[in-house]
Amino acid sequence: MGRFHDATQPLAKLTLSEPVRVMGRGELNPILCRLLREAPKSALESWVVKPAHGTIVLRELIAADLASLVGIRVPESSVVEIPLNPSLGPASMHDAWGHVVRRFGGQLAFCSRFVENACDYSGDADDGDLAELWAFDRGIANFDRSDKNPNCLSTTKKELVAIDHHLAFYKVDEIDQSGASTFDIETMLSEAVDDVGRRHVGAKAAASLTEVTNAAYDKLGEVVTHRLNELEGRWPSFPGTLFADIRRFLPTWIAAVRRHP
Ligand SMILES: Nc1ncnc2c1ncn2[C@@H]1O[C@H](COP(=O)(O)OP(=O)(O)OP(=O)(O)O)[C@@H](O)[C@H]1O
Ligand SMILES: [Mg+2]
Repeated sequence: MGRFHDATQPLAKLTLSEPVRVMGRGELNPILCRLLREAPKSALESWVVKPAHGTIVLRELIAADLASLVGIRVPESSVVEIPLNPSLGPASMHDAWGHVVRRFGGQLAFCSRFVENACDYSGDADDGDLAELWAFDRGIANFDRSDKNPNCLSTTKKELVAIDHHLAFYKVDEIDQSGASTFDIETMLSEAVDDVGRRHVGAKAAASLTEVTNAAYDKLGEVVTHRLNELEGRWPSFPGTLFADIRRFLPTWIAAVRRHP
């Protein structure tokens, strides 16, 4: 396992040891935690844990897998169970952690390996890196990345590391009364161009990345199916119908994204 996420590797097996501090700006409030990794050797590591209901864990994980296939850096990503002990960690964390345990205790949460010494990206990356990120956002229907909300870290080596894909695959799991998908790729993609693309780089730069991105989408079905199987095996009681919905919509969704690279 390198420093970043790798779709070809199984998810790290992790146990939450203690919460350290609250990150984020108010919506999901991810928590920096010390987690115990089981293999290859037992080790305590810093990870950012995002306790949240519903489909967020899958959106984040599948986006991380896809990012690794198109060569976009994302921190190593996995899932961890939120323990039921409200007084874990330092006294300063007890209020915040008690709140997390009451809402999410016993559930699995998405987590990403803490990138040491990185700061939130603030505008000095090269256009090629931004074009890649933009092409990627279009492909995963992610509208939650912009100048004001970069959802992207910059390392000490000035590498861009994309984070926060909890809104990716927008509406892919929504169905109307007749059971048909309400997912409208045309609208989604034009919104993505307005919100993200124009601010970052011109369409020309992103178009040159179409081939790379389409090659990754060829593998999308395989990767998503593999990850869903892995997760369902570990988490048979996942609430709702998300696994079934994603499996059902996947072929239509891949075709739509590929037609509009
Ligand atoms: N793996 C990571 N390594 C380093 N910092 C991280 C990592 N993941 C998240 N962060 C930091 O935590 C912040 C919040 O994380 P993220 O963007 O994933 O959550 P969010 O859904 O936007 O939450 P909120 O709405 O509460 O800000 C990021 O802007 C970043 O500064
Ligand atoms: Mg964010």
